Amino acid sequence: MRQLIAGNWKMNCLGADAVALARAVAAGAAGIQADLLVCPTALHVAAVVQALKGSAVAVGGQDCHMAPKGAHTGDIAAPMLADLGAGWVILGHSERRQNHGETDEMVREKVLAAVAAGLTPIVCVGETEEQRVGGQETEVVGWQISGSLPKPFSGVIAYEPLWAIGTGRTATEQDVAAMHGFIREELVRQFGEEGRGIRILYGGSVRPANAPGLLAVPEVAGALVGGASLDAADFLAIARAARSV
Ligand code: PGA
Repeated sequence: MRQLIAGNWKMNCLGADAVALARAVAAGAAGIQADLLVCPTALHVAAVVQALKGSAVAVGGQDCHMAPKGAHTGDIAAPMLADLGAGWVILGHSERRQNHGETDEMVREKVLAAVAAGLTPIVCVGETEEQRVGGQETEVVGWQISGSLPKPFSGVIAYEPLWAIGTGRTATEQDVAAMHGFIREELVRQFGEEGRGIRILYGGSVRPANAPGLLAVPEVAGALVGGASLDAADFLAIARAARSV
């Protein structure tokens, strides 16, 4: 299986910047031994899909509602993302869990909505600094997995320790190895054999300099990249560090 390098553009780029960034990623994608994905704001999905036509770079959303349609002012339904040509959606990112009060139960409902619309969900889990200092990181992540993933689950998990997101601080390779090993055990315990095939990405201050080390850690099947994905050269440098797993 190839590693997946996913860019989470968050609430960045005006339209022309998003198209330029997408084009720059596509222009450098040839020969890269990883699956590539970019997730612009939903407003730019259509333009980015258009800019990436004919390239190997896939497009995803950053969130979706749990209902396929209805009276939900300001929300975006999974079928709408699929309709624009997105194939993926990030769900349960810590910025949504923290800033929008998303619970595991809500994330689980969103995963079901995404899959029903034909999207592949990337479900984010991860502990706060306080929880890690308190030695609760595996307990927290174990609960997030059992609460956020429906059974069966066809998607990807991203382990993103909150204290590493946007901070320039990365988890050590040992910490990542320990947590990814734990997540794999949990997936197998909760999902049986199916749990062995679920890709587990690492996210949190992934940069070209630390990517080779992080992407070489056992059970790391790729990266979810925030800040560094806004620079095509950095994103592509990270992707060049990917390997087959
Ligand atoms: P970062 O963000 O790479 O800027 O730390 C990662 C993420 O939030 O997905």
